[in-house]
Amino acid sequence: MIPATEATPYRSASPIIRLVGIEKTYFRGDEAVKVLDKLSIDIPAGSYEALMGPSGSGKSTLLNLIAGLDRPPRDPSRSPGIASIA
Ligand SMILES: Nc1ncnc2c1ncn2[C@@H]1O[C@H](COP(=O)(O)OP(=O)(O)O)[C@@H](O)[C@H]1O
Ligand SMILES: [Mg+2]
Repeated sequence: MIPATEATPYRSASPIIRLVGIEKTYFRGDEAVKVLDKLSIDIPAGSYEALMGPSGSGKSTLLNLIAGLDRPPRDPSRSPGIASIA
C-alpha cells in the first residue's frame, strides 16, 4: 500500500520551506534593529499559512528572505541561519 503522503504529494507533511535559526539585524546609523532572532519554521507542502503581526514586526523581512530577495547575514562569527525551499 502506498502511504498517503506519497500518493498525494501536495498534502505531504514534509516541509517545502525550512528556516533554521534565521537572524536579521538592520542598522539605522549605529543603532542595531534586530528584526529576526533565531527564527525556525517549517512550512509543509500544500498548507496555507498566514503571517500576522503589527507593522514593523518583520513580516516583509521574513518574506524577502524566503523569496530569495534578501539573504540572512553572512557574519562568520555567528550562524547565519538557513533558508531553503524544497
Ligand atoms: N532596509 C531596511 N533598513 C533598515 N531598517 C529596515 C529596513 N527594512 C525594514 N527595516 C526595519 O525592520 C523592521 C521590520 O520591518 P518590516 O519587515 O518591513 O516589517 P513589517 O513588514 O512587519 O511591517 C522595522 O523596524 C523596519 O523599520
Ligand atoms: Mg511589510
